[in-house]
Amino acid sequence: MSERAPAIVIIGSGFAGLGMAIRLKQSGFHDFVILEKSEALGGTWHDNTYPGCACDVPSHMYSFSFELNPGWSRMFAPQPEIRSYLERTADKYRVREHIRFGSRVDAMEYQDDARRWNVTLTDGTVLTPRAVVSGIGALHIPSFPDLPGIEKFEGTTFHSAEWDHSYDLTGKRVAVIGTGASAIQFVPRVAKKAGELVLFQRTPPWIQRKPDFPFPRPVRTVFDKVPGVARGFRDGIYWALEARAIGFTIDPRLSGPQEWLARWHLHRQVRDPELRAKVTPDYTIGCKRILLSNDYYPALSRPNVTVETSGIAEVREHSVVTEDGEEHEVDCIIYGTGFKVVDALNELRVTGRDGVKLQEIWAAGIEAHRGTMIPGMPNFFMLLGPNTGLGHNSVVFMIEVQIQQVLSCLRLLQDTGAVALEPKPEAARRFNDRMQRRLRRAVWNEGGCSSWYLDDQGVNRTLWPGHTFEFWAGNRKAKPEEYLLTR
Ligand SMILES: Cc1cc2nc3c(=O)[nH]c(=O)nc-3n(C[C@H](O)[C@H](O)[C@H](O)COP(=O)(O)OP(=O)(O)OC[C@H]3O[C@@H](n4cnc5c(N)ncnc54)[C@H](O)[C@@H]3O)c2cc1C
Ligand SMILES: NC(=O)c1ccc[n+]([C@@H]2O[C@H](COP(=O)([O-])OP(=O)(O)OC[C@H]3O[C@@H](n4cnc5c(N)ncnc54)[C@H](OP(=O)(O)O)[C@@H]3O)[C@@H](O)[C@H]2O)c1
Repeated sequence: MSERAPAIVIIGSGFAGLGMAIRLKQSGFHDFVILEKSEALGGTWHDNTYPGCACDVPSHMYSFSFELNPGWSRMFAPQPEIRSYLERTADKYRVREHIRFGSRVDAMEYQDDARRWNVTLTDGTVLTPRAVVSGIGALHIPSFPDLPGIEKFEGTTFHSAEWDHSYDLTGKRVAVIGTGASAIQFVPRVAKKAGELVLFQRTPPWIQRKPDFPFPRPVRTVFDKVPGVARGFRDGIYWALEARAIGFTIDPRLSGPQEWLARWHLHRQVRDPELRAKVTPDYTIGCKRILLSNDYYPALSRPNVTVETSGIAEVREHSVVTEDGEEHEVDCIIYGTGFKVVDALNELRVTGRDGVKLQEIWAAGIEAHRGTMIPGMPNFFMLLGPNTGLGHNSVVFMIEVQIQQVLSCLRLLQDTGAVALEPKPEAARRFNDRMQRRLRRAVWNEGGCSSWYLDDQGVNRTLWPGHTFEFWAGNRKAKPEEYLLTR
């Protein structure tokens, strides 16, 4: 079933899709549709409802630059507040009416003759836009560990991103697998309810104090009423977070003060030397995301909590058995085991010009020109594409730069009368080679840890290697000489 063709299809209604839609409208492009597989908008902030879920970049920075929210209740807003911010923003800019909920994109194929994309939904509907902007995010396909015997387990299991709120944890024996950004937020809440909690830790994270506090009403009023205060506060946060990137990107040895802060926090909060040894990382800080928490270490010190560092050997009907032979009886297993990041991008079934498949282009690893476009894929844009993630600041900043880049490409098409545009292969090669050279000496490759930032070959396909203002300076405007235009 083929439909009237909107000029532009946006996929996803998280920060990226909504931001793109708003900016399109403001720039005079009204003929677009947002396709969203879920029944609600918000992406990450709709899916993740686990107890304790919040951002770890201060909210005044983790929000759109064009839609400041003076009313944030605290420094790091909880998930429901971020979700309602996105809902409010979608309504204010009237982009909700462009969203088609329950519309999962299955495949996209470029029609060489018509110079349009065939965007096929799961229900068979085909839309034929001139351009596609993917805002599908990277953290939405839950990753489950391959645990021997898991199919025999008779208790309850669920992932942090698919929290089972109908399951009452009160008094239960709970296993939590993983100690990443999600787990450190929900473990303290679960520990308070569960009878026993066994935390299976493979690699301890570096954790610093979370400078979190509520904003009293008068402060919120000042943010709201006094011109420039909210903007100034946001700018202050931005530069403070950028200072953290110096160690990540220039020389990991410059992260000494960061590591000192994390060690000080650990020593202050964990008195028991045995537990302290278990949760002390042995890799350079920043190699994995630096986490912020004030209640995680105290939760581990509770009498009903055990930190298990021996690997999981087997799961039985009612227990988890570790490699040292110990058997832990449990009623429930909660996976805090993260997401399939590279798969999320690779999962898109995209066929570009001349029938070339994205998977073929990406056989040696995923990459994009300036994080956004791919040679051979005309008028196909990716927000938060390869190497645009961050370990130190708000990705909403990166998304907004990419949105400017997309708009600049669309204007280039308008100004030249061209119908399609794609990056020249040599321009994309130069950009990616330069970036990978820089990444080779960064903490994520040199820091002595493994993480989802690296692909199977150990190449960093996810993070931007520098300061975010460098990304802004170099990538917000399309450079015409880097693109092939089809007239
Ligand atoms: C718990 C959690 C906390 C986080 N906290 C922070 C933070 O503090 N700071 C920070 O910078 N980053 C944080 N992140 C990263 C976060 O993912 C990004 O900041 C941001 O929300 C990504 O927005 P997005 O729009 O790109 O993707 P998403 O929010 O993932 O939205 C993608 C949307 O696309 C839809 N979609 C996907 N595939 C399809 C398809 N085939 N067809 C149709 N629709 C599709 C999805 O349903 C979803 O609605 C956090 C991530 C998690 C999981
Ligand atoms: N703002 C926030 O506060 C916040 C909150 C949640 C998520 N996020 C974002 O979302 C990303 C994902 O966070 P996440 O915590 O969901 O995932 P994650 O950071 O990838 O952490 C996954 C955890 O599961 C462990 N794990 C994975 N497979 C395992 C296995 N087979 N056996 C044992 N342990 C296993 C990992 O151990 P190893 O370390 O050994 O691999 C790690 O501790 C973050 O990096 C961040 O960008 C942010």
